[in-house]
Amino acid sequence: MEEYQAMYKASLEDPEKFWGDMAREFYWKTPFEKVGPTYNFDRTKGDVSIRWFEGGATNLSYNCLDRNVEQGFGSKTAIYYECNDLDDGHAAYSYSDVLRMVCKLANALKAEGVQKGDRLSVYLPMIVELPASMLACARIGAVHSVVFGGFSAESLAGRLQDAQSSLVITADAVMRGAKPVQLKAITDKACEIAAKDGFNVQRVVCVARLKDTPRAGQAQHGWVSGRDVWYSDFVAAQAEECECEWMDSEAPLFMLYTSGSTGKPKGVLHTTGGYMLGAFATTKYTFDYHPEDVYFCTADCGWITGHSYVTYGPMLNTATQVLFEGVPTHPDVDRFWKVCEKYKVSIFYTAPTAIRALMKSGDAPVTRNDLSSLRLLGTVGEPINPEAWRWYYRVVGGGHCAIADTYWQTETGSHLITPLVGAMDCKPGSAVLPFFGGPGGGGTVYGDHKRFEETYFSQFNGCYFTGDGCKRDKDGFYWLTGRMDDVINVSGHRIGTAEVESALVAHAKVAEAAVVGFPHDIKGEGIWCYVTLNEGEAYEDSLKADLKKQVREVIGAFAMPDEIHWAPGLPKTRSGKIMRRVLRKLALPDYETQDLGDTSTLADPSVVDVLKSYHPRKK
Ligand code: WT7
Repeated sequence: MEEYQAMYKASLEDPEKFWGDMAREFYWKTPFEKVGPTYNFDRTKGDVSIRWFEGGATNLSYNCLDRNVEQGFGSKTAIYYECNDLDDGHAAYSYSDVLRMVCKLANALKAEGVQKGDRLSVYLPMIVELPASMLACARIGAVHSVVFGGFSAESLAGRLQDAQSSLVITADAVMRGAKPVQLKAITDKACEIAAKDGFNVQRVVCVARLKDTPRAGQAQHGWVSGRDVWYSDFVAAQAEECECEWMDSEAPLFMLYTSGSTGKPKGVLHTTGGYMLGAFATTKYTFDYHPEDVYFCTADCGWITGHSYVTYGPMLNTATQVLFEGVPTHPDVDRFWKVCEKYKVSIFYTAPTAIRALMKSGDAPVTRNDLSSLRLLGTVGEPINPEAWRWYYRVVGGGHCAIADTYWQTETGSHLITPLVGAMDCKPGSAVLPFFGGPGGGGTVYGDHKRFEETYFSQFNGCYFTGDGCKRDKDGFYWLTGRMDDVINVSGHRIGTAEVESALVAHAKVAEAAVVGFPHDIKGEGIWCYVTLNEGEAYEDSLKADLKKQVREVIGAFAMPDEIHWAPGLPKTRSGKIMRRVLRKLALPDYETQDLGDTSTLADPSVVDVLKSYHPRKK
């Protein structure tokens, strides 16, 4: 604890030394002149800006790969790839293997005309080509935009257009559990949608994931000649060496879309030097990383956790990690634990929603596997309820593993509040104490710096606002209480209520919609939709499935509503503002006895009774 306090103090009081020394462990083509941070968070004093390691030039791909190979770790396993299906096998890739893959792809991208600063989209499952694509972009200075494989064609189209990325890397299809996900077909449709809007994708590089395997028949997609190319053909003629583009410390590294309370998802842009140090330092200290560890983070690279704690953080630490393509329940509910046993995983990092779902199956699926290699457990994505924390600690960790509840977000790029396990006692449900004050932090919203300033720097002058509520107890421990804006956290995925609403009103029969979160046993929060139909439409239950499907098609399966609640009228004030507080209370299990507070300012107070009469949980 004393060491933590001393380091914490040093990180804030002498960043030049603290972060400078740490940064110098990496290769800089041009050494930085100043650690920084040089920043302005006060909008009254000009543009908001944050700069780290000014004057320096480096490359993430170099520091994740070449540097490790040069230091003699070329044959160390970087990635154990575990397939969705047990009969589909596994593979191991050394640091040299990954470097070769990345160089070939980087050369192919260059041959295609991709240049420094160009944006490129990646819509891949959790296969080794996914981190390799990210690193290939980083190598040549192209900005990657990874789109999670669960997003729909419309969502992908919007992201392709916003980023103006004319090249997409995808796969034919992939099995997720027992079902195929048609990534190529979805990409084709996304390209069509974008084309209608005047944006043309020039090149689709397709990894043959199911092709030439016994499940080839599961992949169904078309082929646009001249545009589409198989990944293996794309890289075939390329050399296994590729010079890095040396990137300014503040040059863009990647963008990643995330939802807010208003408007379309924003492309959060991360830059090179600060992100690199943030991902490196948190992986090292939060997870107390040691060279002999086997690390397994279950997040998909389509989310920020997969960026910082699958691709970049572990590789900057020369770690050996498991890359898992599948789902925790396939073929059985003990799949995570089987993987941990198989690779002797020592550090395991997952989301509370997964813990709660697996907890339902009892202790036996866990305890029938040998988990004695586990040393440290992490959680991320949402507040963890004490009951799930205790089960994770007792059953998964066998009572001998520390738990790191890591609080952070897409914008910060790396952990903000987390225990440094071993150094401090934990309390179930608390993310404990701040990490060292340091690098990371999204520099802007792609193409919209104003929106960046308004979203994060307008509530508290001179401060960044995460959007979360929090309590601090007498020991200084932080307890995150959830979002304070109209964002819901469904299974650790951030979903803007406005996005779901706009998906619903796009349906021909819908006049208006208001969406709120409600407590959900497994997902943390579920999606509750109040829907007003157009004049003359009948409020029939058969239409509900249609509306759920609508949201699934517009956003993606993970945003599928849990409940549709018919609302011939919505509780609005006389000025027309929807009283969301009332809607949130009506979505609670004990809605009948809820105190709805002052409803006298409602334009029509009787809507409340009408809503109760249409309550989907009415007995
Ligand atoms: C939002 C960020 C962080 C990577 C995954 C999600 C919530 C995240 C915790 C935690 C309580 C948490 C916050 C945050 N959140 N981790 N340990 N305890 N809340 O990234 O999609 O950017 O979402 O997730 O509400 O703002 P994201």
